[in-house]
Amino acid sequence: MPATVIVGTQWGDEGKGKIVDFLAENADIVARYQGGDNAGHTVVVEGKEYRFHLIPSGAIRGKKVILGNGMVINPALLLEEIRRLQENGIEPDLLVSKKAHVIFPFHRRLDALKEKRKKEKIGTTKKGIGPAYTDKVARIGIRFGDLIDEHALKMKLEVLVDEKNKELERYDEPPIDFQKTLEEYVFYGKQLGKYAGDCSFEINKALDEGKNVLIEGAQGTHLDIDHGTYPFVTSSNTVAGGACTGLGIGPTRIDEVAGVAKAYTTRVGAGAFPTELHDKLGEKIREKGGEYGTTTGRPRRCGWFDAVLVKYSVRVNALDWIALTKLDVLTGLKTVKICVAYKNLVTGETTEEFPQTLEELEHHEPVYEEFPGWSENDVKNGLKGNALKYVKRLEELCGVPIKLVGVGKSRSETIILED
Ligand code: IMP
Repeated sequence: MPATVIVGTQWGDEGKGKIVDFLAENADIVARYQGGDNAGHTVVVEGKEYRFHLIPSGAIRGKKVILGNGMVINPALLLEEIRRLQENGIEPDLLVSKKAHVIFPFHRRLDALKEKRKKEKIGTTKKGIGPAYTDKVARIGIRFGDLIDEHALKMKLEVLVDEKNKELERYDEPPIDFQKTLEEYVFYGKQLGKYAGDCSFEINKALDEGKNVLIEGAQGTHLDIDHGTYPFVTSSNTVAGGACTGLGIGPTRIDEVAGVAKAYTTRVGAGAFPTELHDKLGEKIREKGGEYGTTTGRPRRCGWFDAVLVKYSVRVNALDWIALTKLDVLTGLKTVKICVAYKNLVTGETTEEFPQTLEELEHHEPVYEEFPGWSENDVKNGLKGNALKYVKRLEELCGVPIKLVGVGKSRSETIILED
């Protein structure tokens, strides 16, 4: 390992939770560096399904889990996730950065209000992610460490609530109940204070001691605020570089970056999706793959694997290898397609580079390669036949090895192609 970053290579929901859980066996620490409860992981261990939005799934394995300074945290949900783990006999070894920002109910209210007003809706998860990051950048946000100090919290909350009330007034919305909010968050501080700490110090120390740190990205590369399909993106840096700023570790401390890619593509929310299937086949993949949001339950849009999209992720994250997930979902199809290039509809030229802007992207259409499908037998007890050929072609197109292939929900349904 010693420090490995795992990122999504598409628009999120690539199955990172399962891969992180699989790799967590050799990790001492599992850390998250961005996002909040807009993320959702489902991990199945021995038939039991665990769902998390904040806590890294490594907690199930009893690993130390860290929520980094780059995150935005809803403390009510954090408490609930801790309680759920405890109910299952797991006492999480958890550290939350004092520098992580805190989500308030008014952030969620504003998220919904802003979306409602927008002509071209982003389709956010309405978890208050964007508004909380906005306050962070505006330097009026409240951080996890502030929850422990009642006096500091009161002073900072007064400033924040004052600002937010002005905003709510513009939406003709009732003002925030300051006292109620303060009391609620003082309570969270009392309950969660014991988890507050310094993630940069902890991780650097662990690395100095030769420990293995698994760093888990949320969402996907194409939802990154800088490198994604802006403005249809989330409000944080989902790419591997975000791990440095979001945890307080220097780039030279990262040894390996792995990307998770689904064997097809999905997207939830609005925004460009060149290989989207608008027909019955798209619906079939959605049903078979259970493509409904873990966080919002929304149906995910489904389409073919887009090698142009993933190759871009290989570049911006400097991926060393890829873990391919949900290959089994495509089993039984007569033929499958891969987008290998984009064709410019104006000039007729083809490119293997993902366009820089949405306007440019609109002028392109996917160029497909078609493959014969495979049967159940090809994904059981190792990869064979057309399933293996498909994976090898993806590997060739993306330019990095595919080392792990997921062929089912459970931890044991993971094929190791290369150690
Ligand atoms: P936000 O992160 O809630 O602001 O949503 C912004 C965009 O990112 C929307 O299109 C969401 O559907 C998408 N998004 C946010 N989190 C996830 C995720 O964990 N998986 C997939 N899409 C996500």
